[in-house]
Amino acid sequence: MVAARRLSDMDLSLFELRGKSALVTGASMGLGRACATALAMTGANVAVLDIDESSAVKTVEKLRSRGVDSFFVHCDVSNKAQVRAAVAAVVARFGRLDIAINNAGFGIPVGGSENLAQEEWNRVIGINLTGVFLCAQAEAQQMINQEPTQGKIINIASMYGSVAGGNCAYNAAKAGVIHLTKTLAAEWGRFNINVNCISPSWVMTRRMMHLSEEVRSRMRAVTPMGHIQRPEDMFGPVIFLASQASNFVTGHDLLVDGGHTVNTWLSPLERTLAPRVTPEEEIFDTAQDADDP
Ligand SMILES: NC(=O)c1ccc[n+]([C@@H]2O[C@H](COP(=O)([O-])OP(=O)(O)OC[C@H]3O[C@@H](n4cnc5c(N)ncnc54)[C@H](O)[C@@H]3O)[C@@H](O)[C@H]2O)c1
Repeated sequence: MVAARRLSDMDLSLFELRGKSALVTGASMGLGRACATALAMTGANVAVLDIDESSAVKTVEKLRSRGVDSFFVHCDVSNKAQVRAAVAAVVARFGRLDIAINNAGFGIPVGGSENLAQEEWNRVIGINLTGVFLCAQAEAQQMINQEPTQGKIINIASMYGSVAGGNCAYNAAKAGVIHLTKTLAAEWGRFNINVNCISPSWVMTRRMMHLSEEVRSRMRAVTPMGHIQRPEDMFGPVIFLASQASNFVTGHDLLVDGGHTVNTWLSPLERTLAPRVTPEEEIFDTAQDADDP
């Protein structure tokens, strides 16, 4: 009887974000746009913070077509003054800040760390790590000062924050984002602010389209779920971490990687069952992006 009563108490409104005020950095395209779409799908108004206005304008239109409010704010996340002005602009338009997704970031081509120039190191750390800190700090100040005091901060890290491969500056920045997330979660829980991060694997965003079929096949072969990650694979994790459903989850690094980082099999994973997503479906969202001029 008790179990039945508890089940009947389950309510999908736990995931409802209608009327919430959100911002997403780097939301013009790629994963940021997927995060913004997830929030808009569940009813949140979403500010698009980016340095690329022409793509941002199209994203804003797509978000508004879902019946929510959206607008673009020019913001370089590595510039403290611009970050503060952007958070103020969001509050001026939406009245408060409930959800912030710190996604803006970039990788640089793999190169030997023994030759990495300090300027490149500084540039990668400046946007991927310092940018996340500057945003989280400005967002938390708003969340602390509003009534009721509370908020959800979600940082976008990477599986390369936990495992090695690729560029050392990027990996160090992403490992920094994961530990920054834990530290801020421990500090800001007392303000009812949850701080979590999501670590994707390789995602088929527009800038990944150049990858050869050989590389794509290798990615599928080492990923237990059997397909390459799509931007829309972020929808569920984002809605969970942005909503009441995750109110007791904080300081967590949610790996959204199809099991890639837990797989250490030396032989290829044999599959007799088709994966849930076919190779053609992997590029669905990217194809939509490509439709944009
Ligand atoms: N694509 C992947 O395979 C992958 C995997 C793991 C993690 N990630 C992470 O996801 C995030 C988004 O990656 P993506 O693949 O969608 O990248 P993307 O290049 O497709 O989009 C990045 C967006 O961030 C914006 N941006 C760049 N620098 C900025 C700055 N200084 N201030 C504000 N906006 C800025 C760009 O204009 C762009 O709109 C990054 O943090 C990235 O490290 C991506």
